Amino acid sequence: MKLANKIAVITGGSSGIGLATAKSFVEEGAYVFITGRRQSELDKAVAEIGRNVTAVQGDITKLADLDRLYATVKAEKGSLDIIVASAGFVDVKSTAEVTLEHFDKTFDVNAKGTFFTVQKALPLLNDGGAIVLVGSCIHLKGFPQYVTYGATKAAIRHYAKTWAAELVGRGIRVNNLSPGAIETPILDIQFKTPAELDAAKTMFSQVTPLGRIGQPEEMASAILFLASSDSSYITGIDLVADDGMT
Ligand SMILES: NC(=O)c1ccc[n+]([C@@H]2O[C@H](COP(=O)([O-])OP(=O)(O)OC[C@H]3O[C@@H](n4cnc5c(N)ncnc54)[C@H](OP(=O)(O)O)[C@@H]3O)[C@@H](O)[C@H]2O)c1
Repeated sequence: MKLANKIAVITGGSSGIGLATAKSFVEEGAYVFITGRRQSELDKAVAEIGRNVTAVQGDITKLADLDRLYATVKAEKGSLDIIVASAGFVDVKSTAEVTLEHFDKTFDVNAKGTFFTVQKALPLLNDGGAIVLVGSCIHLKGFPQYVTYGATKAAIRHYAKTWAAELVGRGIRVNNLSPGAIETPILDIQFKTPAELDAAKTMFSQVTPLGRIGQPEEMASAILFLASSDSSYITGIDLVADDGMT
């Protein structure tokens, strides 16, 4: 049990990488609070996880929702040991296609939402805790149409460095995970037709040495490593789990 008696908040815990992480954390002895905007997906996730889980519906771009999330954690458990900030948004657009609305939404969810997810958790987070931010390997490489998304993930990678330095006195470790292309719903919604999706999956597979898309469980095991004492001498890093793509 790598996370026995630990309390974790996992944003985006109703789907994909966040859901796989919530399942693995519970198997390792943790109690998890999961968030997401859609109550229907949260209900399904709670049923799948089965035990030691509370779902708190909310949007990470709304500070009142984050306050409500942490008020629930405080009321139910008193404090917190681990934050996994996995909630994220992607909408692929070339630079010429980017509108003000697209720009604001991408930065609102990924850059602003992730920032306040962590800032608002700090008073509840126990000394010796761990923060894992879910970025993207796209911040390391130029991919056409990922200009705004990649910039927000570069911001998140920077948060990890600064927060690692700011929180070192409390023994709180902060690390960033940079996933490659992973088989989750966020991959599907980026493309307008099944043919475009298939072409993108083929492209992503061809640019990775092992020639395949990753699975959310493979990200969950990397997050478990960063959240547990297995990585006790590691803070401020970017763990690139992209099958060598970048
Ligand atoms: N899959 C990939 O290929 C890949 C690659 C690199 C990085 N990532 C990153 O991995 C993270 C998780 O993505 P995923 O692949 O697991 O996608 P996913 O299966 O679509 O999960 C996204 C999760 O975030 C939640 N979410 C989205 N916007 C939110 C908001 N404003 N407030 C609260 N929750 C919100 C979603 O629930 P609701 O929609 O109900 O709110 C859902 O639970 C993201 O940060 C993504 O950028 C993914």
